[in-house]
Amino acid sequence: MADAAHPPAGRASQNVPARMYGWLNRLVASPGFQRLCTRVPGLSLLARREGAALFGVMQGFVESQALMALVELGVLARVAHAPATAQGLAHTLNIPADRLQVLLQAGAAMRLLTRRKTGQFALSPRGAAFLSMPALPALVRHHRVLYADLADPTAFFRGETQPELAQFWPYVFGPGAQIDPDATARYSELMAESQALVTQDALATLSFKGVQSLLDVGGGTGVFLRALHAREPRLQLALFDLPDVVAQSTLPQAIARHGGSFRTDALPQGADMITLIRVLFDHADSTVLTLLQRCYHALPPGGRLAIVEPMSGGATPDPHTDVYFSIYTLAMQTGRTRSADEIAALLGQCDFAEIKAKKGKRPYVTSVIEAQKPHSPA
Ligand SMILES: C[S@@+](CC[C@H](N)C(=O)[O-])C[C@H]1O[C@@H](n2cnc3c(N)ncnc32)[C@H](O)[C@@H]1O
Repeated sequence: MADAAHPPAGRASQNVPARMYGWLNRLVASPGFQRLCTRVPGLSLLARREGAALFGVMQGFVESQALMALVELGVLARVAHAPATAQGLAHTLNIPADRLQVLLQAGAAMRLLTRRKTGQFALSPRGAAFLSMPALPALVRHHRVLYADLADPTAFFRGETQPELAQFWPYVFGPGAQIDPDATARYSELMAESQALVTQDALATLSFKGVQSLLDVGGGTGVFLRALHAREPRLQLALFDLPDVVAQSTLPQAIARHGGSFRTDALPQGADMITLIRVLFDHADSTVLTLLQRCYHALPPGGRLAIVEPMSGGATPDPHTDVYFSIYTLAMQTGRTRSADEIAALLGQCDFAEIKAKKGKRPYVTSVIEAQKPHSPA
């Protein structure tokens, strides 16, 4: 692939007025311009960067599968403990040394491992960061289901496949769904592991000034409430989730627990702030509207609602949320990764006011929207 075939575009091109695109695209594709890119230093640098970015997009699937193999084989943890050569690990991992060498070299190219002059592979700082967050290896393992659902992407986008991912989240099938406790435990564990990251960002973004009591709806087994309790022990806290999930939480006595379904049950009254953390994006607009209305009725006048989840970039497509989360929630069948504007519109339909969106520092982890129930009815 010639570098000159991939001239400057990317982020910068998003700022190009629409009528310029035709002209810019013709220019970029013309052999004369591509020859120019090889000769003019600034242009050739941009062309090379864009070429590498394009190649990164093309090879993303292969990187993910190499990462999956590294995780499933426990390679990162092994070399963290003792750097090793492919030869040295081949027998234990039951992989021919020459094939394992390719995997380890790929791991080093992705900077999850470092390759030493001795030929040994060791854990890199990026690999150490990956291992330090148990949510990440757990998510990578979980991706087997998503990748299987995407095996025929055209059929998937046409809606001609039956994605298996929804089975992992049985509550998406609504009130009639048979949800066995094992399935609840499986998804609650995955959520609890990844909620640590979300909790960090939520606590850094949300203000609890003036709040006396808070209800976390769809709070899972309570990772967020536990962290909030440690940080703001003065707050009265309560969890609301499906009965089987609440039964599995091991929260301190001081935190109230309510089992129920926001599809069919009213939410407990009394909290002056409600949080919905990674809840809306699992559900269709009709379910979200029911839930937001229930939040509105449960809150006192002046009460606050905070929605915390990854959001689409909307008019400015986001490289992470509009690829990973949007496609993941599509595979869930009922879910949708909404933009801040779309969530604000749903909040507006439920009479919430003072709607403010705060893009997270790590939008691929979470962003936040806050809203208020007006002091006097609209
Ligand atoms: C994606 S998980 C998020 C859990 C937690 N807030 C977090 O961020 O880790 C969605 C949560 O919503 C709960 N949920 C789904 N449908 C529900 C319903 N109808 N009523 C109450 N909770 C529900 C699930 O049990 C699950 O704990």
